[in-house]
Amino acid sequence: MLSYLLDNQQDTLAIAAKLADNCPTDSVLFLSGELGTGKTTLVGGFLQALGFQGIVKSPSYTLIETYHIKNQSILHWDLYRLKMPQELEGVGIRDYTLAPAIWLIEWPERGLPFLPAADLTIVLQLKNKQRSIQLNPQTPKGQQLLETFHE
Ligand SMILES: Nc1ncnc2c1ncn2[C@@H]1O[C@H](COP(=O)(O)OP(=O)(O)OP(=O)(O)O)[C@@H](O)[C@H]1O
Ligand SMILES: [Mg+2]
Repeated sequence: MLSYLLDNQQDTLAIAAKLADNCPTDSVLFLSGELGTGKTTLVGGFLQALGFQGIVKSPSYTLIETYHIKNQSILHWDLYRLKMPQELEGVGIRDYTLAPAIWLIEWPERGLPFLPAADLTIVLQLKNKQRSIQLNPQTPKGQQLLETFHE
């Protein structure tokens, strides 16, 4: 497990870029943390690092926003408004698992049994005005993704 203090948005964007630069094209990243801790900010930094130039908004109502960048598919999920995990079947989550993609999932706890297993669990925190991030690898792929952080 790696953890860092985040003193400003640039710190978050730098970590996001490092993850994006090294993320295999079929990876699952869970983004946990209370409201406003910086999950969408991290997704925005990740997409920008891959070359996306627009503004990244949380797909709260649609649950998912799909991006195609440099021959990769990135699926940005925000499950905050999910009432029951089963609703994911209604949006065709199974179809999304058929092709390789990078999954970035906000509020994964709300959809758990219907989500693919995480390679990396990211936890964002805001405590006593101090932001921090934890990166917890769950698979060898997740482990490898973190190796660049040691260089
Ligand atoms: N490292 C940081 N330093 C300072 N401010 C930050 C940092 N990361 C995010 N913020 C700010 O915190 C606010 C909330 O960020 P963001 O929307 O990314 O949170 P979130 O975790 O996605 O929230 P939600 O649970 O509502 O989806 C934004 O105004 C953002 O600019
Ligand atoms: Mg968000």
